[in-house]
Amino acid sequence: MKKNKNYKVSIVMGSQSDYKVMKLATKILKNIGVKFETRIISAHRTPKRMYDFANSAEKNNIGVIIAGAGGSAHLPGMIASLTSIPVLGVPIEGKKLKGLDSLLSIVQMPKGIPVGTLAIGENGAVNAALLATSIISNNDAKIKKKLDNWRLSQTKSVKKYPK
Ligand code: RP5
Repeated sequence: MKKNKNYKVSIVMGSQSDYKVMKLATKILKNIGVKFETRIISAHRTPKRMYDFANSAEKNNIGVIIAGAGGSAHLPGMIASLTSIPVLGVPIEGKKLKGLDSLLSIVQMPKGIPVGTLAIGENGAVNAALLATSIISNNDAKIKKKLDNWRLSQTKSVKKYPK
C-alpha cells in the first residue's frame, strides 16, 4: 500500500438480502469519513462479475474489501484468491443453521489464501468496517485521527454507573 493514496473500502455482498446487515458497515464508514462503495456480487450467480471486480480492484484504488455472504459463503475466499488486497469476511445468518455454516466456511480457509473473519451478522459488519478503517489508517494520518476520535467518543459514551 502506497502512502496517502486515498484508498476506498469496497463492501460487497452475495445478495440484496445481505444488505440489511452490511448496511451497518456503510454507516460506520460514513460516520468516520472513509470512502467506500457497495456492490452485489455473487460467487456462484455472477462469477464473471466477481472475477472482473477482483481483477480491477487494485486499479480502482480499493484498499480493503469487506465481503458479506450467507450459506456456503465462498465469496470472501474466492475474491481473496484473485487479489492480494486484504479481504474481511462477514458471515450472514440465513434461515437455517444460524450463520454457523457461513462462519465455518469463511474462517476455515485453507492455508495460503487468508480471509480475516469477523463475527456472524451485525457485530461482524460493524467490526469489519472498523478493522478496514484501521488497515487504511496505517498509511493515512487523517483517517487515523478520525478513527481515534470515533473510539474516543465511544469510550465517552459509556456511563460510569448503571441507572
Ligand atoms: C448467499 O446466499 C448470499 O450471500 C445470501 O446470504 C444467501 C441467500 O441469498 P438470497 O437467496 O436471499 O438471494 O449467496
